[in-house]
Amino acid sequence: MIEQIKEKALNEDVPIIKDDGLIFLLKIIRERNCREILELGTAVGYSAINMALLSDDIHIDTIEKNEDMYRQAVANIRNEGLEERIDVHFTAIEDYKTDRKYDLIFVDAAKAQYMKYTDQFYDNLSDDGVFFYDNMIFHGMVYNVEGIRNRGTRSMVKKLINFLELMRNDKRFDIMFCEDVGDGILIASRRKK
Ligand SMILES: C[S@@+](CC[C@H](N)C(=O)[O-])C[C@H]1O[C@@H](n2cnc3c(N)ncnc32)[C@H](O)[C@@H]1O
Repeated sequence: MIEQIKEKALNEDVPIIKDDGLIFLLKIIRERNCREILELGTAVGYSAINMALLSDDIHIDTIEKNEDMYRQAVANIRNEGLEERIDVHFTAIEDYKTDRKYDLIFVDAAKAQYMKYTDQFYDNLSDDGVFFYDNMIFHGMVYNVEGIRNRGTRSMVKKLINFLELMRNDKRFDIMFCEDVGDGILIASRRKK
């Protein structure tokens, strides 16, 4: 079933996490014993379902603003019998507010907004919590910015590069940049006080 969701997403050009990025994400969740997860960017629910299938006591809030994606995600999650543990919120991330604390915040929505999302949800990170960011090399484009023809894409990729630089100097976090995993993964763990 999950394989069908993946195949359909790939056929329809829905951007979902790459295989080795997903394996790495699941490994981090397992090793850190994450139970409360926030996902920014649901798409059709592929990564959320994979995370929820790891353990019966995992709960996920996931946010999606595109109605078609949202509807597909809700249907996929129901088909997997996971609707009690995955809450899909049909809203813009910018408008989502909660007091809940999360062990892992998976950031996988608008790439130009990664710093904004980090600041927005910093207080929602549990003491041992981590941010997990996908697409940090954006199909390798971060290595050849001047070669990017599309102006909007170039601007977005520059913001991604700037975000990495900001995170390298951000005293709130210890970071690990895995540029050769998936589409480039960044993990930021809350620095101990
Ligand atoms: C890369 S896809 C998510 C893929 C998913 N995490 C997976 O691996 O299966 C990013 C999704 O974020 C959504 N998105 C982008 N900006 C958003 C925003 N500001 N608020 C809510 N959703 C947003 C897009 O509609 C898109 O479906």
